[in-house]
Amino acid sequence: MSIRVCGTTCLKGVIEVQGSKNTVLPIIAATILTDGISRIHNCPDISDVHVMCELLEILNIKTYYKDHLLVIDTRNITYAPLPCELTCRLRSSVLLLGAMLGRWGKARIGSPGGCTIGVRPIDIHLEGFYKMNVDISVENNILSCNCYQLQGCDFNMRYPSVGATENLLLAASGAQGRTILRGAAKEPEVIELCNYLNSIGVLIDGIGTEVLVIKGSGCLKSADYINVYDRIVAGTYMLIASAIPSDIILTGIDDIHYIKNIINVCARLGLNVVRAYNTLRVQSIGDVGAGDFATGTYPEFPTDLLPVLIAVLLKSQGKSCVTETVFENRFSVVNELRKLGGRLNVIGNSVYIERSDRIIGGMVDATDLRQGAALVAAGLMASGCTIINDASYIKRGYENIVKDLNDLGAEITYI
Ligand code: UD1
Repeated sequence: MSIRVCGTTCLKGVIEVQGSKNTVLPIIAATILTDGISRIHNCPDISDVHVMCELLEILNIKTYYKDHLLVIDTRNITYAPLPCELTCRLRSSVLLLGAMLGRWGKARIGSPGGCTIGVRPIDIHLEGFYKMNVDISVENNILSCNCYQLQGCDFNMRYPSVGATENLLLAASGAQGRTILRGAAKEPEVIELCNYLNSIGVLIDGIGTEVLVIKGSGCLKSADYINVYDRIVAGTYMLIASAIPSDIILTGIDDIHYIKNIINVCARLGLNVVRAYNTLRVQSIGDVGAGDFATGTYPEFPTDLLPVLIAVLLKSQGKSCVTETVFENRFSVVNELRKLGGRLNVIGNSVYIERSDRIIGGMVDATDLRQGAALVAAGLMASGCTIINDASYIKRGYENIVKDLNDLGAEITYI
């Protein structure tokens, strides 16, 4: 599947921001800890969610999805190993490890997949499990974890990994005794998972801080969850709006705190952001301010928006620099942007961007989800039309990027 997108002179209209991918996936994994029926509202209609449901079905969990409502019935749940063919299709499959350990004290699952944005080891996840008394072996891309009694522990995370924090929270929810996670991630997705775990009967203190204290329980009840908006999707549209004369209303922004860091960067780029109830009105004249930017762990600017920020800065008035501090290989967008006339230079973990007077439509390849979204942004900024190959990467996280931008007046279509 490819996307054809043409340069546009203005964007105007309303976008209903979808539910968060990275929030809902850990919560879907967490339902493994429960007995009963859970309803997850505002669940995005994206392939990662559907693959996660296929994985749950292997555990004899019934799932039903319609109109952004996901119903999960764990009343007949049974243990089973999870095959590589499915686990390798998304990153969050790794979270099933923690949830299965929390539920059964054992798990056998294939390696996780996800975007190729670096080595993406899971050593911190495994170190934490090891501290909880888990024996771990890896053979032919299959991880086997077993323990006699999953035991709470005091674990110092040497890096605030989002996935490791979520995985250890899930395991600790079913462990005996108390677990203390020091140096935990503070991302909104972790906060939402903590709140959900509290609602099913786990006791968690320190939510939103780097020290989480978890008191697990053997008996966890099912609970409903209303998913938050996707801050990365909202941020993508805000960044695009900074580079193209725009007047856009984003709806569904129920917690402004989760997106403040993105608003701050967009304001530096020249975007005017006004909040009213749960909407954001974003306006710009399309003149992008140059500057130096860096990604980081929350509340810093999210690494997931780095490729889109790089694309948008091609239109900035002067020289800009964006430094990536989270993943070691997130610059795949650079080569593709060069094909469209972008003037960019990578040195170490920074990319230096010069104003590119002419971005000209062409043929580019999406190689991961956010890089693909950045190419859509570049296509909108270019003169002429751009074909983005392998657009299925983009669909993994953006439910409806083509329709959303069409509704704003852009000429964009799947081909
Ligand atoms: C999650 C998000 C991803 C986001 C990232 C950082 C999902 C599905 N994905 O990915 O979109 O970009 O958080 O906000 O929610 N690391 C280790 N050892 C580990 C784990 C991580 O060295 O055991 C390193 C990674 O290689 C990377 C850094 O820590 O350099 C951050 O990774 P992490 O926070 O774990 O990201 P993910 O959970 O994979």
